Amino acid sequence: MLLSNHMSALAELCREIENCQGCGLASSRTRVVPGEGAEDADLFFIGEAPGWYEDQQGRPFVGPAGQFLSQLLALIGLRREQVYISNVIKCRPPQNRDPLPAEIEACCGWLDRQLEIIRPRMIITLGRYSLARYFPNESIGKVHGKARKVGDVIFFPMYHPAAALHQGSLRSIIEEDMRKIPLTLAQSEEVAEIVPEPRQLNLFQVELHEDE
Ligand code: URA
Repeated sequence: MLLSNHMSALAELCREIENCQGCGLASSRTRVVPGEGAEDADLFFIGEAPGWYEDQQGRPFVGPAGQFLSQLLALIGLRREQVYISNVIKCRPPQNRDPLPAEIEACCGWLDRQLEIIRPRMIITLGRYSLARYFPNESIGKVHGKARKVGDVIFFPMYHPAAALHQGSLRSIIEEDMRKIPLTLAQSEEVAEIVPEPRQLNLFQVELHEDE
């Protein structure tokens, strides 16, 4: 087979996502925003949903919140290409309204498959929607910057970068949380482990790790 014909599993998945007609957002979007970054990324950042800029370009976090995310990554010596960046839902809700539960339900299988392929060591949730995907009863104000492990994957909740653009006092908190990431990763054996409830097992894809 010619190398040029070979598509990685992740590229193939992104192509599938780009053709998704799974919910009503398919008719209002300009572009689908599957996500982008390194296929072997240790860090997987999950935002909420594409906004106006992302919808125009088909790329995640390219507006003002994205610029701030790039600055945050630079604080720990990383470039966007070295991590993976995606969202809970892959299409922009009209007028940037909050995603509906049915849209999240229809879309989250894509995120699960991205995580299955990339198998990051650490999942960083940005904001309350991606936190709620894994920890529905927790509040971002309480758990931001606190790591815990499910199986051997570290979950690390952070405020959404856009929140700091609206509320200046959050800026230093987000920066401080970001700076904790390298050490948390380096000392992952010291991160407190939690046992998810049975109904959450498939969410965390724990069975994948038990197979190993
Ligand atoms: N906000 C998000 O949650 N995701 C993006 O991709 C851009 C802004």
